[in-house]
Amino acid sequence: MIVTTAQLFKHAYGKYAIGAYNINNAEQAMGLFRGNIEAQSPFIIQVSKGARSYTDKRMLEAILRACDEIFPEAIFAVHLDHGDEKTCLECIESGFYSSVMIDASHDPFEENVAITRRVVEAAHARGVSVEAELGMLGGVEEDIAVDEKNALLTDPIEAKEFVAQSGCDSLACAIGTSHGAYKFSGGQGLHFERIKAIQEQLPGFPLVMHGSSSVPQDEVARINAAGGKLKEGAKGVDAEQYLPAAKLGVCKVNIDTDGRLVWTRVHREFFQDKPEDFDLRSPGKVFIAEYAKFIVSRSTYLGSAGQLESVRAHAGSKGGAA
Ligand code: G3H
Ligand code: 13P
Ligand code: ZN
Repeated sequence: MIVTTAQLFKHAYGKYAIGAYNINNAEQAMGLFRGNIEAQSPFIIQVSKGARSYTDKRMLEAILRACDEIFPEAIFAVHLDHGDEKTCLECIESGFYSSVMIDASHDPFEENVAITRRVVEAAHARGVSVEAELGMLGGVEEDIAVDEKNALLTDPIEAKEFVAQSGCDSLACAIGTSHGAYKFSGGQGLHFERIKAIQEQLPGFPLVMHGSSSVPQDEVARINAAGGKLKEGAKGVDAEQYLPAAKLGVCKVNIDTDGRLVWTRVHREFFQDKPEDFDLRSPGKVFIAEYAKFIVSRSTYLGSAGQLESVRAHAGSKGGAA
């Protein structure tokens, strides 16, 4: 059952977080649905611009509609990840998306507000909710000064102002994370004090954490042992920190890279172990099972495991705009 993102946030706020996972193909979709059913967890499916053009946006939509039929028990929302204005409007018009993200965080504050405001107006008219972004998601850069680094984090006072002016429904905040497989080295990590300060300015307002993959070191080691050349040592977000962040208002935790690592490990090991094999379904089956297992573990860390029936009970009494 496709529900609104707002319904999921309302149920989760302050208690647990919803995993938001990117998908590009049928195998990822199968693993995602199987894992969440096994964990009895609600979830968000993220579709990026890149995913929409990888095969065809209609292909992804068809896969998701099919999954909704194959897994009638599942409760999920469909979200556009890192959209520009044009793609947001397209997704809003399509009637298929529960929510869209407008990413104008690289524009100056006023411009970010103006673009987000336009998307919010179009979205709310169609019952779709909007995630916006404020601040700069950082990289590993060890040599950057602490003051300089903190300046890239979302400013709590600006966040309050931004939400009031733009009318967005959730806010992606820069709280120390970055996208990809190389997030933290040395003693870096999540800035809990910043999340807390933002929550104090925006009580009850859903916050979103991008760049939340944990980049398991054993996964990286297995990929490299099977011929990969990923940089070892750089870590992701400690999955044990998902729940403490959720308690501070982080409702949505974006995970893409970790799924790509599962895919890479499965396929590298598979073809190393079975060089005579050329049936794409053989590693595909292993990947679906391994990805489902990964999703179960994330749901447990997020605290979303076991919430499915409670969400279903609340879904009847629809909550909030979209
Ligand atoms: O934050 C970006 C997501 O990991 C999606 O990546 O744009 O390569 O599909 P993508
Ligand atoms: P990761 O690269 O940490 O998986 O982050 C994904 C993300 O933020 C998608 O929007
Ligand atoms: Zn992101």
